[in-house]
Amino acid sequence: MTEQSAPVKKVNPNAPTLQKVLAVKHYTDRLFSFRLARPPSFRFRTGEFVMIGLYKDDGRPLLRAYSIASPSWDEELEFYSIKVPDGPLTSRLQNIQVGDEVLLGKKPTGTLVLDALVGGKRLYMFSTGTGFAPFASLVRDPDTYARFDEVIVTHTCRDVAELDYSKEIVDAAKNDPLVGEEASKQLRLFTSCTREAYEQAGRITTLIDTGELFEKLGVPKLDPETDRGMICGSMEMINDTKQRLLDAGLVEGSNASPAQFVIEKAFAG
Ligand code: A2P
Repeated sequence: MTEQSAPVKKVNPNAPTLQKVLAVKHYTDRLFSFRLARPPSFRFRTGEFVMIGLYKDDGRPLLRAYSIASPSWDEELEFYSIKVPDGPLTSRLQNIQVGDEVLLGKKPTGTLVLDALVGGKRLYMFSTGTGFAPFASLVRDPDTYARFDEVIVTHTCRDVAELDYSKEIVDAAKNDPLVGEEASKQLRLFTSCTREAYEQAGRITTLIDTGELFEKLGVPKLDPETDRGMICGSMEMINDTKQRLLDAGLVEGSNASPAQFVIEKAFAG
C-alpha cells in the first residue's frame, strides 16, 4: 500500500491577514475610529488606503477600502469609519471591541500622496465626513511641511460633533514632538457644518463659490501658480469640488503624472 501525499494547499501571498483591535473610539452615532496592530512588514505611503474587513457568516471575507489615518512612522494603524445601520460591513465593524480581529489587506495604494503633486506654496486638503482620514495621516508627516509653506485642511460635516475627530488630530499634530513646530506655524484647520448651527455654515463648494473660504483664511483665491489640492469625501463632493479646482485652472495629477491636485473616494457601506 502506498502512502497518499496530502493535497497541496494553495496559499495566496496577497490574502488579507487578521490583526488585533487595539483601541476603539466612538465620536458620534455615525462615526468611530479604531486602531489595529501593524504587521512589521506593512509599509505604506502617507495618504494611501488599504482594504479592511471581516469574515462573513459563510467564511468569505467582506472588504472595503479605508484610508490609513495614522502616519507612516506609527507602530499602529488607525482608521476612521462611518456606521451605516444596514451597511454590509460597517453595521458589524461598528461593534468591534479591543482584542477582536479585523482583516487587513496587504497592498496599500492611492493617489492622495505628496508624490502625485508638483511643488507649490499652499496645499489645500478638502474633506467631508470620514474623508478627513487620509489627511489625519498627512498632517502628521514631516514631508508635508517640507514641501509646502502653508497647509490648509478643510473639514465639513453635517453636525458639530462630527468635527471632533479633525479638531483632535490637528491639535495633536501641533503638539507632536515630530511635527509640532512646523504644524503650529504652517497648518490651519477650517471647519464648517451644514445641518447644525455653527460658527461657519455651508458646504465647502458654496464657500469656495462665494469666496468666504478665502476671506476667512485671509488668502487669495485659488491660483494654479501657488495652490495645490487634495480632495476626499463622497463621490458627489469630490466631483463638485474637483470642478471648482478645474475652473480655477488647476490640473489633476496622479502617481504616474504629478500635477496640481489629486482626488480619492473614501466611503464604506
Ligand atoms: P449636506 O448636509 O448639505 O448634504 P455626508 O455625511 O452625507 O457624507 O456629508 C458630509 C458633508 O458633506 C455634509 O456637510 C454634506 O452637506 C457635505 N456634502 C454632501 N454632498 C456634497 C457635495 N456634492 N459637495 C460638497 N459638499 C457636500
